[in-house]
Amino acid sequence: MRQFLNERLPLEAFSAHLRKPLPKHINLLFSFGSLAMFLLLLQAATGAFLAFYYSPSPEHAHNAVTYISTEVPFGAFVRGLHHWGASAMVIIVVLHLLRVVLYSSYKAPRELTWIFGVLLLLIVLGFGFTGYLLPWDEKAYWATVVGVEIASTAPGLGDFVAKVLRGGTEIGAVTLSRFYALHTIWLPWLVFGLVGAHLFFVRYYGSSGTPKNTPEDMEAGKPFYPHQVFEDVVGMLILFIVLAVVALFVPVPLEDVADPTNADYDPRPEWYFLFLFQLLKYFQGPFEVIGTFVIPTAGMLLLLFLPFLDRSERAVLWKRPIALTVTSVSVMGIVVLTILGGTAKKLETQETAQPIEQIQGDATPDMETEVVEEGEEVFDFQLTEEEIEGAKEVEESQ
Ligand code: HEM
Repeated sequence: MRQFLNERLPLEAFSAHLRKPLPKHINLLFSFGSLAMFLLLLQAATGAFLAFYYSPSPEHAHNAVTYISTEVPFGAFVRGLHHWGASAMVIIVVLHLLRVVLYSSYKAPRELTWIFGVLLLLIVLGFGFTGYLLPWDEKAYWATVVGVEIASTAPGLGDFVAKVLRGGTEIGAVTLSRFYALHTIWLPWLVFGLVGAHLFFVRYYGSSGTPKNTPEDMEAGKPFYPHQVFEDVVGMLILFIVLAVVALFVPVPLEDVADPTNADYDPRPEWYFLFLFQLLKYFQGPFEVIGTFVIPTAGMLLLLFLPFLDRSERAVLWKRPIALTVTSVSVMGIVVLTILGGTAKKLETQETAQPIEQIQGDATPDMETEVVEEGEEVFDFQLTEEEIEGAKEVEESQ
């Protein structure tokens, strides 16, 4: 069998490639990329399980999520893994990015690896944003109202982007379908394409190692397989155990079903968007666009083109004063804004929510949107006890 495969596939060359020694001085921080890969696969597997029971319509989404959490065997656990896994993903990807910055691994010839990495970070955040709406509870609905409103403030394309996301002029059934399609089809395709390109560059250029390495050290470390692979797998196991414990003991929040007439609701995004929410507070009226668009876009562009802006010699972060200052100020700024956003009593979002309220009142129906009369109760589609029992019977008979 081995000979049969060897004659047909370049297995020897592949195995030799995997056993190639890594640079010296590789440490545990070099496992964050592999941990991100692991989480991506875990999210895909748990998401596929959730999709068996979920239904992307305002009539059924909230009940489907309740059903998963209370009736489906291991449903609460798998939902917990998916929910807390998303937060872990953001943390691990950011730690991976900081490791790359720490050792200036983004410098030539790895600029493309970095650029594909920044795009991956955006996609990971995109997963968080689109997934947040899916339970169709109060926090999902109102955070999305504000999120889409923020997108609409972008000069030029903002209104168009907001309309495409909403599927019309209001957040409703079409929005939920679109977010579900983005979350389960568009973003997964994109992420696997980008990860493929990212890993191709990683293998093509080889690991950068740390700046301590001399040219002779570059192929004088442990082989990737089995040594590095073993360390990575141990890291994955530890991460999985931590996530499993959290998923078992910390219930995933689910608020009441979304009520688009509840304008008093205090919207909160997922914790990793809190810094952006907080930023909005400092720029009101005509300056709003600075908080919603100018600063986030400038930050993203700075990150994207970092390898071309920072042309200094490769060295560890504390020996690069400008990079050290910019990184520390950015990280501290984001942490402080996140804490302020998380502890703030009520976010000043009524202004941003207002236009949507008005739009709902006098919506001009187009082909894709539902007409919503002001004050109308449109989302009281709770399943009755009998309907839940019926669903369980169908489930058991299968
Ligand atoms: C879904 C997200 C991501 C996945 C799955 C991923 C995966 C990986 C893996 C497996 C490696 C090789 C091991 C290592 O050096 O840690 C790697 C290397 C690298 N990644 Fe990522 N990555 C992701 C996001 C990012 C982000 C957000 C950035 C930066 C903006 C980035 C920049 C890099 C760079 C420059 C390298 C080469 C490092 C070196 O040669 O030392 N990656 N990535």
